[in-house]
Amino acid sequence: MADTTVMDKLTSLAKRRGFIFQSSEIYGGTGSVWDYGPLGIELKRNVKERWWSTMVHQRADVEGLDASILMHPKVWEASGHVEGFTDPLVECSNCHRRFRADLPEVEGGQCPVCGTKDTFGEPRLFNLMFKTFMGPVEDDASVVFLRPETAQGSYVNFLNVQTAARQKIPFGIAQIGKAFRNEITPGNFIFRTREFEQMELQFFVEPGSDDEWFDYWMNARMEWHLSLGIRKEKLRFHEHGPDELAHYAKKAFDIEYEFPFGWKEFEGIHNRTDFDLTRHQEYSGKRLEYIDPAGGKRFLPYVVETAVGVDRTVLVALVDAYTEEEVEGEERVLLKLDANLAPIKVAVFPLVKKDGLPEVAGKLHAHLRARSIPSFYDAAGSIGRRYRRQDEAGTPWCVTVDGQTLEDGTVTIRDRDSLTQVRVNTDSVISWVQERLTVS
Ligand code: GAP
Repeated sequence: MADTTVMDKLTSLAKRRGFIFQSSEIYGGTGSVWDYGPLGIELKRNVKERWWSTMVHQRADVEGLDASILMHPKVWEASGHVEGFTDPLVECSNCHRRFRADLPEVEGGQCPVCGTKDTFGEPRLFNLMFKTFMGPVEDDASVVFLRPETAQGSYVNFLNVQTAARQKIPFGIAQIGKAFRNEITPGNFIFRTREFEQMELQFFVEPGSDDEWFDYWMNARMEWHLSLGIRKEKLRFHEHGPDELAHYAKKAFDIEYEFPFGWKEFEGIHNRTDFDLTRHQEYSGKRLEYIDPAGGKRFLPYVVETAVGVDRTVLVALVDAYTEEEVEGEERVLLKLDANLAPIKVAVFPLVKKDGLPEVAGKLHAHLRARSIPSFYDAAGSIGRRYRRQDEAGTPWCVTVDGQTLEDGTVTIRDRDSLTQVRVNTDSVISWVQERLTVS
């Protein structure tokens, strides 16, 4: 059974500590869109930086791209989204609410809202793309869509990137950007939302080498999740059966995570063949073939795609890190976030607000900030309460300036997870922290 209490506690912690707020909350909220607060934006940025570093900076065969959200409407005809990006919907004739036809209650014939039985009409297909108008005239000719995936921007720019960067097949195009889907059943906090961010790689390969590259990227992506400190036993692969495959895919595997509401898709890895490039070639009338510099062979590459949500990665990181434990008879709640993902790296406390301790602590805090190490200064309340606030924020290290600091220049550093404390020289705190933040 789904453990909804953990999700409720996490949602409330996320709000209390400034990770995630409901969008437009003072107006009663907007359906399934969320705002990231001071800690949430840092966590999100760290996730994106880790992905960009692994997928772009550490590789010579991947180039970055930032394509626009609004694209030519024909892109979405060519990609198959106008025709095929749909969910079947049924309407209850009693309360007039609409539901996905494949919801278990709906399949059982009962309306999930008003409870009436056998009130559903025939299923109708509902397109998940948001529509808007470009320019001052609101007619059919000016309809544009908010992109439901970043991938198409990489396909239509395939030759631009390849020639400008002088890349040879195999090579990839990476993007991080917003995507929009008018999901019929969003929910589970930031798991499924209508506005979200994706981190997608389109890796272009010679046909025939696609299976090998597919296996390579499946393993590489699993390794990346493990490198974020996500627990191995909570991750698994799920292969798509023929009825699950997207219209563009020959083969697909999801990386799934065991959320409190069950095993769910975390990342999708698809062999998209030459489907997208063939369709864009056809719809645009422009040749998109790659010409092999050694031998001049022309071909449309196959694409192996890896696609993961930024927000979903944030949710996995939070769920995986959320811990309740008892320490000396008292319950504590902490986020055991990987130090590289943690929004605040160090909290600096003067033990008491006198004897010059706040000045020493304030100076250390300023030095950490000057080195771009996110540090938080806190002198309010008992030391125990200050620790608890940082535990909930996922801060890996708390540095306390005390009476001994004035005598020998040392401070204590308390580790969030083990609760062990070490004394180090104040001047060494920055290097001590930097050593532990280095990502391999
Ligand atoms: N370009 C391929 C593609 O978009 P997808 O499986 O539909 O594939 C990829 O999406 C990933 O994007 C998902 O695994 C998930 O992490 C994220 N994602 C998709 N829809 C989402 C939504 N409504 N809210 C949050 N994240 C979403």
